[in-house]
Amino acid sequence: MNLFDVYPLYDVTPVKAMGSTVWDKDNQQYLDLYGGHGVISVGHSHPTYVAKLTAQLNAIGFYSNAVQNPLQQQLAKKLGEVSNCEDYNLFLCNSGAEANENALKVASFVTGKSRVISFENSFHGRTSASVSVTDNKKIQAAINTFNPVTILPLNDLFLVEKALEKGDVCSVIIEGIQGVGGLDEGTTDFFKGLEKLCWKYEALLILDEIQSGYGRSGAFFAFQHHQIKPDMITVAKGMGNGYPIAGVLIHESIKASYGMLGTTFGGNHLGCAAGLAVLEIIEEEGLIKNVNDVSDYFIRQAKTIDAVKKIKGKGLMIGLEFDDEVGDLRKKLIYEEHIFTGGAMNKKLLRILPPLNITTKEIDVFITALKKRV
Ligand SMILES: Cc1ncc(COP(=O)(O)O)c(C=O)c1O
Repeated sequence: MNLFDVYPLYDVTPVKAMGSTVWDKDNQQYLDLYGGHGVISVGHSHPTYVAKLTAQLNAIGFYSNAVQNPLQQQLAKKLGEVSNCEDYNLFLCNSGAEANENALKVASFVTGKSRVISFENSFHGRTSASVSVTDNKKIQAAINTFNPVTILPLNDLFLVEKALEKGDVCSVIIEGIQGVGGLDEGTTDFFKGLEKLCWKYEALLILDEIQSGYGRSGAFFAFQHHQIKPDMITVAKGMGNGYPIAGVLIHESIKASYGMLGTTFGGNHLGCAAGLAVLEIIEEEGLIKNVNDVSDYFIRQAKTIDAVKKIKGKGLMIGLEFDDEVGDLRKKLIYEEHIFTGGAMNKKLLRILPPLNITTKEIDVFITALKKRV
């Protein structure tokens, strides 16, 4: 059997990794400024993470959601504390798309309505409802076109209110900072306005923090830069540092009922151990402070490069915009400088999503390489 060939691949085969360094099968070393699509939060193969997962696997790796699993309560409690979101309840699942799918479904259950407002250049995943609110027709099949969705420009509260006035909107979904699209974000006034309008028109505000969450923006959640309180928050990527675990934080004012949501694998023992290890490391190693310190340094250095026309994003979710498309630059960075970076829907933007414990020394390596290549 062959693989269903949906990914254009770089010719690199990683076999080992530690911190922000990856080695390929020929023992070539790479600097990882992309964390495999923003997944690596506490660094590759962090010793605490490896020890906790190994111990958990030696005890029990999986049992279903039909029995008690105290690790789930431990994870929910710890996540509430570390993120300062103690007035939310947690539903655990497996991927970012699934988290958004469940959040959208809860909004529709609770309000009895079905239309969703999302934003231009958004990315929310590839499952049915999630892809229908993603602004990319190319990844929507005919079967994904039945959900009523209104896609609006960012930062236009007038148009949001016009759409909400029709009375059929169950939720507004927005990324804390746009990831795949290219690091654009709502202003504080916009986020605050969305919160107010959602209250007024009885729609639920869903913050997709799948890429921008878990400390990446320099706050635990990117929306916390704007002092708002969403009804639901979706998380994945950095939550498990590579183990596939995701979740929906659902405000405690929204009541659960048996059977409303469910999953076979979500919240399994190994996933919870990964989630707990990540939170413990973020807290004990002060990683959010590191994000802010390294981010300031990175931005100062990037500003010295003339070819960098615009710097977008926050924390260690940074976009460097150039006059030209960055496809060739990314290839040079991988094959000649041995540095992983990311692209975006905005083809002129280089996306930087390193592990949250990256050092300024490692940033220097990148800046020197970039200066050489632009
Ligand atoms: C903001 C955002 N939402 C949702 C998703 C989908 O997550 P997953 O690929 O885990 O389904 C992504 C993935 O890139 C994302 O960046």
